[in-house]
Amino acid sequence: MSLQDRGNPVAERQPNGLPHAPKPPQKLFIPGPTDVLPEVLEAQTAPMIGHRTDEFEALFAKVQAGMKQLYFTQSRVYVVAATGSAMQEAAIRNAVRGRVINFINGAFSQRWHQVAVGCGKEAIAVDLPWCTAVKPEQVAEALQKALKTGPVDAITVAHNETSTGVASPVDEIAAAVRAISPETFVMVDAVSSFGGTPLPFDEWGLDVMLTSSQKALAVPPGLAFAAVSDRVLSRAKTVEGRGWYLDFPNLEKYLIRNTTPATPAISLMRALGVQLDIIFAEGMENRFARHHHLAERTRRWAIDHGFNLMAEEGYASPTVTTVENTLNLDIGDLNRYLEAKNMEISDGYGDYKGKAFRIAHMGEVTDADLDRLFAAMEQYMAAQ
Ligand SMILES: Cc1ncc(COP(=O)(O)O)c(C=O)c1O
Repeated sequence: MSLQDRGNPVAERQPNGLPHAPKPPQKLFIPGPTDVLPEVLEAQTAPMIGHRTDEFEALFAKVQAGMKQLYFTQSRVYVVAATGSAMQEAAIRNAVRGRVINFINGAFSQRWHQVAVGCGKEAIAVDLPWCTAVKPEQVAEALQKALKTGPVDAITVAHNETSTGVASPVDEIAAAVRAISPETFVMVDAVSSFGGTPLPFDEWGLDVMLTSSQKALAVPPGLAFAAVSDRVLSRAKTVEGRGWYLDFPNLEKYLIRNTTPATPAISLMRALGVQLDIIFAEGMENRFARHHHLAERTRRWAIDHGFNLMAEEGYASPTVTTVENTLNLDIGDLNRYLEAKNMEISDGYGDYKGKAFRIAHMGEVTDADLDRLFAAMEQYMAAQ
């Protein structure tokens, strides 16, 4: 049945009566959402099932086991129908009674601070230069200073600042926090790096690590995840104002029965189930190595073509490269050129708009994809 048959006034045909040719999918080199494989998209079209059924519980158990493997954790991974920002809020509401220190080196670590303020917590912002990484020494200094006036419940840091393409040494940060204040939780936003680089939750002694489905996991947007340590879960029970939807103790009550308190995003979880099979068939080590190789290749291409990199040396992201627009390209025009070839990159974030551009190489991006992108960019540059 056509849209018109269903009374939809939107014309499905060109003025000459012929149907529009389907638009070929854009190859996305933007830092999320990323391209989703056809079989993963297809998994979403299966008929609905009730979520209080054995079939759903089996799906939940599969997703839980796969996500724990990707997180390298024996702990739990909460899965909610939401996005990563919701898990930033969940972490704050469940883990912070009084004070939290937010390390800010870009737009998304800044958002976490806004979330903490919005949740009414005493949130201490430590502003660091954008395009630099958060270093353990900076964390130690800020933590020691704050501890002089009382306990600090948690620190927050973005592992991979998508706005600048900088990855911070979360393992060293966690060790620094533990050495100074073992009761201070280490909470990590891994939204744009999880699945593209190893982030061993247990080995690094992390307390919360959150992510979203639509980045390196290459699943459509709409699922948010958080690995949560036992000690966060036990403290959460004593924290006021946790709300209901993102309440960790409540999520735990259902998780141990392989289900969720509210209606889960069944179609997305099916997509994730298929994507996890694809990830494990590729092999986690191979997947991480592919991401690191593509990042290295992108950085090399940028430098070889007269650009500079925005990220502090030694801390460039494995999943998104921010290139300083040293050649003064018109990024909007470049993207229109790429769009005609069914590709898309990202402009610089916020104040970096026009001054930088971002090439994401996460999820299912391959060397062949980069061949095509770089060839098109070189053609565009040659014609300027
Ligand atoms: C590092 C980082 N944190 C948080 C977010 C917000 O995630 P979401 O859009 O899934 O809420 C993003 C989104 O791009 C991000 O890159």
